[in-house]
Amino acid sequence: MRAVLMGPPGAGKGTQAQVLAQGAQVPQVATGDILRRAREEGTPLGRTAQSYMDKGELVPDEVMIGIIEERLRQEDAKAGFLLDGFPRTVPQAEALDRLLQQLGMPLEAVLLLEVPEDAIVRRLSGRRTCPSCGRSYHIENDPPPVDGHCGTCGAELVTRTDDRPETVLSRLEVYRRSTEPLKTYYQAKGVLRAVDGVGKVEEVTARLRAALHD
Ligand code: AP5
Repeated sequence: MRAVLMGPPGAGKGTQAQVLAQGAQVPQVATGDILRRAREEGTPLGRTAQSYMDKGELVPDEVMIGIIEERLRQEDAKAGFLLDGFPRTVPQAEALDRLLQQLGMPLEAVLLLEVPEDAIVRRLSGRRTCPSCGRSYHIENDPPPVDGHCGTCGAELVTRTDDRPETVLSRLEVYRRSTEPLKTYYQAKGVLRAVDGVGKVEEVTARLRAALHD
């Protein structure tokens, strides 16, 4: 699998990418998780990213392109990859095309998860995230097996700082302005596959798997 999973904030990209990547035995490359880890470790990248993330804005393209180049050149990505949260702008998509051409690994599919904005706001307000392994839960739709703790690694779950209602609205606006143009970009390349992201997590996974094999 060499694919991108895109969609608005809270569409379920992280939830689905984890299952799909595990099933296909390829790395899930989630740029949001990479940035949050850098922020927790207090690295220069983390300090740069923090101010953008807290406001719901995008980290500059050149920073993100550098991260992806380094990650996709690693040995485990030779077997394939699932990108979650990258690309988010047309310049990022163009840089990805150039990199994958150099590596001889063209994209097979771009899966677009479609979820209406009112559902997104409900999902993000109830989200709890594992700071250790990155897994997302929802207090009503997908509660953790032990209250407040990750079912995968046991760490204490947290609420993301960018899930505050005012930040969610600005993330949605950034998505409309900067990321939605990618639909046209990938449609023109014939790789875009739109998938309905509403329904139970397993139902959405089944739709995504079917779209990958189309
Ligand atoms: P990032 O972490 O990528 O955030 P995002 O794209 O806004 O997406 P989310 O992680 O919020 O949502 P998701 O779609 O993964 O949904 P989830 O599965 O968690 O990026 C964060 C920030 O980093 C950006 O704002 C930016 O600043 C920076 N950044 C990252 N990449 C960048 C890039 N390439 N360029 C520039 N800046 C970048 O699900 C959400 C909730 O819904 C959960 O509670 C979940 O349990 C629940 N849920 C999932 N599926 C369902 C379902 N089917 N039904 C009901 N509930 C569900």
